[in-house]
Amino acid sequence: MNDSVWLATATMPRFEAAAGELRADVVVVGGGLIGLTTALLAAQEGAEVVLLEGGRIGARTSGNTTGKVTAQHSLIYADLAKRHGSEKAELYAAANLAGVEEVARLGESIDCELIRAPAYTYTTDPDRAHRIAAEVAATTELGLSALGLDVALADAGEVGLPGVVEAIRFDNQIQLHPGLYLAGLASALVDEGVRVYEHSRVVDVSRKGRVSTEGGAAVDARYAVLATLLPIGMTGGYFARTRPSRSYGIAVQLPEPAPRGMAISIDEQVRSTRPWPGGGPNGLIVVGGSHETGTVEDTQGRYQGLIDWVASTWGVDEVAVEYRWSAQDYNTVDMLPYVGRTPESSAILVATGMRKWGLSNGTAAAMLLRDVIAGRDNPWTELYDARRIGGPRAVAEMVKDNLKVSKAFAAGHLRRTLKGGADHLEVGQGGLLDVDGSTVGAYRDHDGNLHKVSPVCTHMGCALSWNPAESTWDCPCHGSRFTPTGTILDGPATKPLHPR
Ligand code: FES
Repeated sequence: MNDSVWLATATMPRFEAAAGELRADVVVVGGGLIGLTTALLAAQEGAEVVLLEGGRIGARTSGNTTGKVTAQHSLIYADLAKRHGSEKAELYAAANLAGVEEVARLGESIDCELIRAPAYTYTTDPDRAHRIAAEVAATTELGLSALGLDVALADAGEVGLPGVVEAIRFDNQIQLHPGLYLAGLASALVDEGVRVYEHSRVVDVSRKGRVSTEGGAAVDARYAVLATLLPIGMTGGYFARTRPSRSYGIAVQLPEPAPRGMAISIDEQVRSTRPWPGGGPNGLIVVGGSHETGTVEDTQGRYQGLIDWVASTWGVDEVAVEYRWSAQDYNTVDMLPYVGRTPESSAILVATGMRKWGLSNGTAAAMLLRDVIAGRDNPWTELYDARRIGGPRAVAEMVKDNLKVSKAFAAGHLRRTLKGGADHLEVGQGGLLDVDGSTVGAYRDHDGNLHKVSPVCTHMGCALSWNPAESTWDCPCHGSRFTPTGTILDGPATKPLHPR
């Protein structure tokens, strides 16, 4: 696996694993942005909070983002208004704007390279320019300026990238160093008296809000908040209502000063960029290459695609890549996250499906969860309702997605195994082997040792794919991911792979 520039350049506080029987008002499961923010906001309201993280704080999706905190989510408002009506589209903007401002408030006391900057969505393709114009019109019709959101059609030149034909600008958004921000949140939790535990993977949650860890600890609480990217196990059936995707990031040095704004294209190859202050004036972060988890064999090629884009955009032969990393996100069928009480229990709260905009959407989610815990009304409750099924279109898309998943189950019987057996597996290489007629997942580590696992996901039995760029076993069905030796990286699975 590769470390993101953010995780490599921040020092996270360390915490012990949970042990024994604990009690609290709220137990938060997951030490990413949503978990940390929810825990902090709930503690600031006077709740007694325990936070359990399965691995290290901030080490999963939150520490691997682009670090953009913005209510501009590529193009979304025209589509939201069409699909859900103006009122909901406006509420979505208000929620995300509130998320941006809450990050600004919390970030005031954290040294995290937080700066205000414009956010652009642009295209270099004249055939797509009308979509930008439609987004500008939608934001005007929705009256987003009344919310304090300054939106305008931008001059193509101000984006700072070659070939832009049309762009929309949101002023006064935020970019920050996610690693430093998460470390600051974790320290703030300690100051607020939150009991934080790492290496405490939760494997079970009861309807009464009791959670149990694989190490044998348990927490009884009035509310269990599952902030684990996708809720663990079968909770709420969210695994069947979302789709996992992976994106790739690189930190590079350009031959000239990097564009100062944040930008994302709507071109065939989506590219998301922002300045990289740690890399000096020429430092740039580039993210893109998204695909559904576990569905691409040549994941290394996704990094190369980003490098090639930098080379052609800035006309250089060599691109100095200083960091590379990838991240997982979940998309929902109706474009809205699920936040709040689950269908099975009012004691279990979730936040999932942030659609790659987790810093703003996730902070808004934490504010909503804080209000649920405090017993207060919140204007976004219905918008993000975690108990909704969705309209006919959402249901149809859900059915289509689940048919895809069924195909992934079937594909397990057809997977290609590496030729030549284990002896031909080079150091750092992994893949499927045929061993005495059965398929085994194998990986040769850098000391030459061979690790063999059952390449069957422990969540619901889907066939896993080897991800060579990250050296992980990835599940195409609902996105669980495992290390070469079978340890869980991302749920919903709660059990490691079986050794072979
Ligand atoms: Fe559900 Fe793998 S994540 S089967």
